[in-house]
Amino acid sequence: MSNKVTKAVFPVAGLGTRFLPATKSVPKEIMTLVDRPLIQYAIDEARAAGIEEFIFVTSRGKSALEDYFDRAPELEANLKAKNKTDLMKVLDSTNMDSGAIAYVRQNQALGLGHAVWCARRLLGNEPFAVLLPDDVIQADKPCLQQMVEAYQETGGNMVAAMEVPQDRVSSYGVLDLKEDMGNIVSVKGMVEKPKLEDAPSNLAVIGRYILSPKVLQNIDNMETGAGGELQLTDAIAKEITDSDNVYGYRFKGERYDCGSKSGFLQATVAFGLARPDLRDDLEHYLEDVMAARKAAQ
Ligand code: UTP
Repeated sequence: MSNKVTKAVFPVAGLGTRFLPATKSVPKEIMTLVDRPLIQYAIDEARAAGIEEFIFVTSRGKSALEDYFDRAPELEANLKAKNKTDLMKVLDSTNMDSGAIAYVRQNQALGLGHAVWCARRLLGNEPFAVLLPDDVIQADKPCLQQMVEAYQETGGNMVAAMEVPQDRVSSYGVLDLKEDMGNIVSVKGMVEKPKLEDAPSNLAVIGRYILSPKVLQNIDNMETGAGGELQLTDAIAKEITDSDNVYGYRFKGERYDCGSKSGFLQATVAFGLARPDLRDDLEHYLEDVMAARKAAQ
């Protein structure tokens, strides 16, 4: 089996309850960080890593997502007539080649493992990437690209990992390390949302994966795990027992949990400050707000 990773799955079928009421009618992935929806950041990252086929696992109420990647003939004609070439270029990055993008439905939110499994017929017998669009990563070299490069050395299965404060481990899948080789670690166990005292380390898994098709077979044979859902972590952990080839990758970059309100707000500030056209205004505003808060104390 070749180590080339050309397919990526974007599980976007979750209910997004932490963002209600917004997510009653707006898919979480369409919510906007500065001026682009979350999904655009994930697509750009996947493209940079060499992904050619983009598979979305969607659910009811996600049609805004399909429209986003379609052409917008009226809008394009309007911009062209007004000679707005800059904006036409901006729209270009949202257009996908015919056939490069596929949508499959997850008709019940039975967990991340189940969502990935829904794409099995489109994935075939090749390694594939999984990107959770609510994890947005600011990095010089896009995170998935870093992982694809490391994966050329390791093969097997790779999860993006980052050190989290000890008191936060219960919110993540956590790695039990076999060998720490720096950026790459080999893994002898994975625990989903462990109690603080049971956590084997503080190296947590976040939403980027490169997986072998064996993981899909593992999901096929699985019983529902924590919370009545099929957990992707359990299916990957089975590969540790079966083939001993699961790796964590300490990526370089800053990850924002845009599935949570405070993570989204922090990402908005970070990505705003990274934009040359917005930085100065935003910086002054933040300084003024902080000064006023201090003065009021
Ligand atoms: P989350 O755990 O963030 O769940 O899913 P959620 O439903 O999106 O949001 P909350 O917790 O209710 O606010 C992580 C990723 O897995 C996808 C989500 O769309 C998100 O990208 N997912 C989760 C599915 O596609 N299907 C599922 O059954 C569960």
